[in-house]
Amino acid sequence: MKAALEKIKETAIAVLEQTTEMKAIEDLRVKYLGKKGEVTAILKQMGSLSAEDRPIIGQLANEVRAAIEGEITKRLAELKEAELNRKLKEETLDVTMPGTRRPIGKKHPLSQVLDEVKEIFLGMGFDIAQGPEVEYDYYNFEALNIPKNHPARDTQDTFYINDNILLRTQTSPVQIRVMEQQKPPIRIIAPGRVYRSDAVDATHSPLFHQIEGLVVDKGITMADLKGTLEIFAKRLYGDDTVCRFRPHHFPFTEPSAEVDVMCFACHGEGCRLCKGEGWIEILGAGMVHPKVLSICGIDPEEYSGFAFGMGLERIVMRRYNIDDMRLLFENDLRFLKQF
Ligand code: PHE
Repeated sequence: MKAALEKIKETAIAVLEQTTEMKAIEDLRVKYLGKKGEVTAILKQMGSLSAEDRPIIGQLANEVRAAIEGEITKRLAELKEAELNRKLKEETLDVTMPGTRRPIGKKHPLSQVLDEVKEIFLGMGFDIAQGPEVEYDYYNFEALNIPKNHPARDTQDTFYINDNILLRTQTSPVQIRVMEQQKPPIRIIAPGRVYRSDAVDATHSPLFHQIEGLVVDKGITMADLKGTLEIFAKRLYGDDTVCRFRPHHFPFTEPSAEVDVMCFACHGEGCRLCKGEGWIEILGAGMVHPKVLSICGIDPEEYSGFAFGMGLERIVMRRYNIDDMRLLFENDLRFLKQF
């Protein structure tokens, strides 16, 4: 029995030393020390021993039990530590390592220039108004003095949702919406997306942006229109900017004009940028047509106003010498980063 106990101790300790799984160690505890374990089995046979041997074997059995128990505790502690060390190593954080750089975005050139234009007009006391991009035919055309068969509709073909609803071709419908809601004095600009069923090329896009302006009050004249737009052009392009007003026609303004600035590349001589003209057109404008004021419930005998509308893409393209509008919509960062 003594030999058997010694053997159990030897193998148990040898096996434990080889075991690297906590679960396996727990199994070994049961195998040796459990109720049906090997050491217990020996203790159960103690009855057959002589009175002399009994305490000796008993003591030995307890020693063996304690030794195995001790080994188990030691192995468990070792494994725990090894596991902890492994984790610590795995999760080491090298705070001196360079981080992953997140590329920081940049304002799109369209937004940059739009913000500048807004700043200029806010500085002159204008508010910013908005209108829907999906618009009624009434606001986009009819109320702007462009009835169903008016030839101006040809140049502004658009995407129709049905006979009465379309994607707006201009920001001018916002004029109507503002005048319906607000009585003079009115001083607003309305920037936003507009749509026309144009094929995409270097100077056309079915989606582009306009900035509308509207001033209505008592005693507003063409002089106010000229003064305001001249100040705007100088703020945007520089103090030495020269403007030219050319007679034009828009159904919702009377008289109407197109405004050019003297080409900043050739100063009026004519060059590639201005296509030999010496001047570059920047916007359309005019005195709000009395019919339009009346339609909106504003008495044209009492009030007058001026309106203007400009294409944002054009202004941006001129500003940065961009020769293809598509570049503004492709979202290629190599292009956009330059501005
Ligand atoms: N909406 C006109 C266009 O798209 C521009 C414009 C606006 C002209 C306001 C006069 C007054 O061509």
